[in-house]
Amino acid sequence: MRLLRRHPLPFLVAAMLAAAAAATPVVLGTLGTVTPAEAVLLAGTLLLGGTVCALGAAVYLLHRSVRALPAAVASHTRTVTEALGRDRLETVRAMDAVRARVDRVHDHSLPKLSREIRRAVTVQGRHDYEQQVAWTELRETLDTAAFMPPLRGWAASPDVLRVLVRHIDRLRPDLVVEFGSGASSVWLGYALRRAGGGRLVAIEHDARYAELSRDLVTAHGLDDMIEIRHAPLTEIAPQESTVGDETVLTADRWYDASVLADLEGIGLVFVDGPPQATGRQARYPAVPTVLPHCTEDAVIVLDDADRPDEQAIGDRWLAEHPELQRVEEYTEKGAHVFSRKAVDPAAR
Ligand SMILES: C[S@@+](CC[C@H](N)C(=O)[O-])C[C@H]1O[C@@H](n2cnc3c(N)ncnc32)[C@H](O)[C@@H]1O
Repeated sequence: MRLLRRHPLPFLVAAMLAAAAAATPVVLGTLGTVTPAEAVLLAGTLLLGGTVCALGAAVYLLHRSVRALPAAVASHTRTVTEALGRDRLETVRAMDAVRARVDRVHDHSLPKLSREIRRAVTVQGRHDYEQQVAWTELRETLDTAAFMPPLRGWAASPDVLRVLVRHIDRLRPDLVVEFGSGASSVWLGYALRRAGGGRLVAIEHDARYAELSRDLVTAHGLDDMIEIRHAPLTEIAPQESTVGDETVLTADRWYDASVLADLEGIGLVFVDGPPQATGRQARYPAVPTVLPHCTEDAVIVLDDADRPDEQAIGDRWLAEHPELQRVEEYTEKGAHVFSRKAVDPAAR
């Protein structure tokens, strides 16, 4: 069929000859020019001639196609080779680009990453060791129960508790206030008991955790020394403040301050709440609210002081209360200790 479509002329001629072969005897017979036998012979001759012509044309065309075949194959081969060559070139270029990126990662990022991982592992190892040491010292010094609430993570770390215990030993405060209750409340209770007395009021915004903390206190037999006070966070006016180069709007909630109304003579404050998720500089209101209730030699310990927000809170406390001074304790999460500056007797 393809041959017929591409070269119709020989087939047309053959068809015309076949038609003529069929029509001629009929016409000549009708006209009486030839006898029927002559007409049949003529028709056969014409049909045979047409068939031979058609066969000859077909053989000729076939011959031409066969002769054109190598050229067509060569042309196709060239096209395919060129396409493959182009693809190969693109593949080689893509592989070069990938190799260059791998080289960059290998030469720069990997050594940097490996240095950072090594540094982080070293720092973590040092922290782990120091927390282990602090935990052991606390256990041995405070004469605690065999099973103590775990520290670190959401709870205060052993090293900041050791700082607090040192201040309890030195100040022997009648009243300690903690913002954010939990494991630390129990440890501080043991510290007060060892120091000979005193009371801890742990302010807790979350009713469920207040309950859990109370259960812990009861389980350790410290109800006579520790009170867990539930104080939901209530609205306060947010303020514009700076943290580094950033201007932030401070948290709009803090503990219901009326919860502090009956607390006087506070000798030690542990600021470990509300949680960071409450808002920016969420712990700022602690000092302006609690300072009027504190003794002259009171100490305020701000946990998580390595965080930029806590550093900004400390800066604000110092700026707004020039009588305060800050000592930065090296602990896992950073602990800044605030107290009133000693008054120079000569200045009296
Ligand atoms: C930074 S954590 C510290 C609480 C406490 N000062 C301590 O060190 O254990 C502050 C908040 O954690 C929440 N919290 C208390 N017990 C918890 C617990 N078992 N698991 C997770 N969060 C707890 C309380 O809402 C608490 O105010």
